[in-house]
Amino acid sequence: MLTAARNDMLTGVGPGTPMGELLRRYWQPIAGASELDANPIKPVRLMGEDLVLYRDRGGRYGLIDRHCPHRRADMSYGWVEETGIRCSYHGWLMDETGRCLEQPYEDTANPKPSKAGCDTTAYPVKDCAGLLFAYLGPLPAPQLPVWEPFTWENGFREIVFADVPCNWFQCQENSIDPVHFEWMHDNWGGRLRGNNVNAAPKHLKLKFEAFEHGFVYKRVREGQSEEDRYWTVGRVALWPNGFFLGSHFEWRVPVDDENTLSVAWFFMRVPKGREPYVQERVPTWISPIRDDSGRWITSHVINQDIVAWVGQGRIADRTKEHLRSSDIGLTMMRKRFFEEIEAMAAGKEPGGIIRSANEAQCIALPNMARELNTDGIALADYDKDPILRQRLKEFRHHFGQPPEVRREFVEAMGISGA
Ligand code: FES
Ligand SMILES: [Fe+2]
Repeated sequence: MLTAARNDMLTGVGPGTPMGELLRRYWQPIAGASELDANPIKPVRLMGEDLVLYRDRGGRYGLIDRHCPHRRADMSYGWVEETGIRCSYHGWLMDETGRCLEQPYEDTANPKPSKAGCDTTAYPVKDCAGLLFAYLGPLPAPQLPVWEPFTWENGFREIVFADVPCNWFQCQENSIDPVHFEWMHDNWGGRLRGNNVNAAPKHLKLKFEAFEHGFVYKRVREGQSEEDRYWTVGRVALWPNGFFLGSHFEWRVPVDDENTLSVAWFFMRVPKGREPYVQERVPTWISPIRDDSGRWITSHVINQDIVAWVGQGRIADRTKEHLRSSDIGLTMMRKRFFEEIEAMAAGKEPGGIIRSANEAQCIALPNMARELNTDGIALADYDKDPILRQRLKEFRHHFGQPPEVRREFVEAMGISGA
């Protein structure tokens, strides 16, 4: 249980709030690079700030204030040029550093040597593994961490977004919550498929460990032992707002205090013998979360998680919760956020920030699926692993995979069943 004031501290993300300032110290994934192929301009709301993301014709990414510095028109209705984005109201041209390059009428009729004072807010953007990351904190920006899976080759990647109408922190608490797999995904998932028993193997033992880039959780379930990878390696609640499960990442990116952008990046290595496989473009798609009647979609794994997150309310009321030993991980995570907020207020750099370019190039995380993804296995062996077998058959994580993405996947894997 938390006091209301402590809950506000964890959940408020606007500029100037303690958590908002902390999260601004880390690069946040906000879009797929391939999203900008069809339309190079995308309005983005991030931590309570309205922004516009674009790729100009020179290939530069920009993330600037949604409102034009002239008289506040919506820059997302402008267009991109060789350098920068132009406002459709009176034609002011802005670049990715926020500089105003042109003011067409003034430049013609009343030229002045400087446009100082007409600059706009701008944030750096970087492209990595098909994802676009933004940094909204004080400069100089730290290095963008290149997690080891981003460097893997011979795999099919895809990026999936979902707009989730609740606060980011309850989504992130799900990243350190092993027991929900048994109940939400196994028992409830089974019931949704028509099974009438709670047949999922029970959790017998849990362990949570802190490390520089987050927390690892480990578990033993019925039928497993301490020799199992779920206990010897575990899964990672990635600091500050991510989740790493071996072959995919998830991030819970705050849009504002009451909305979250769920971002997921998936990797599936092609079967042995299909190499070399080079993916020209990482597809990006948006997963719907409501059905036609307005109820939440429950058929897919992350959709089920979303049912839990939004069910906790727009901002979960932590003054009314009853934490038990299954929740030790999230207590550790909250404590670390409070400590980091305090340390930052005292002028210290928060943990997990990387300043060395060398170190940032390829960062290994505890990973149960490393060999599977770096060495690969023969197609015939996929059948022996229930998760891999299922993954070949259908995309189980998010509802609504577009048929063209399924076709590309099937082609990459060399299987039938588009
Ligand atoms: S409001 Fe954008 S150019 Fe005038
Ligand atoms: Fe889940």
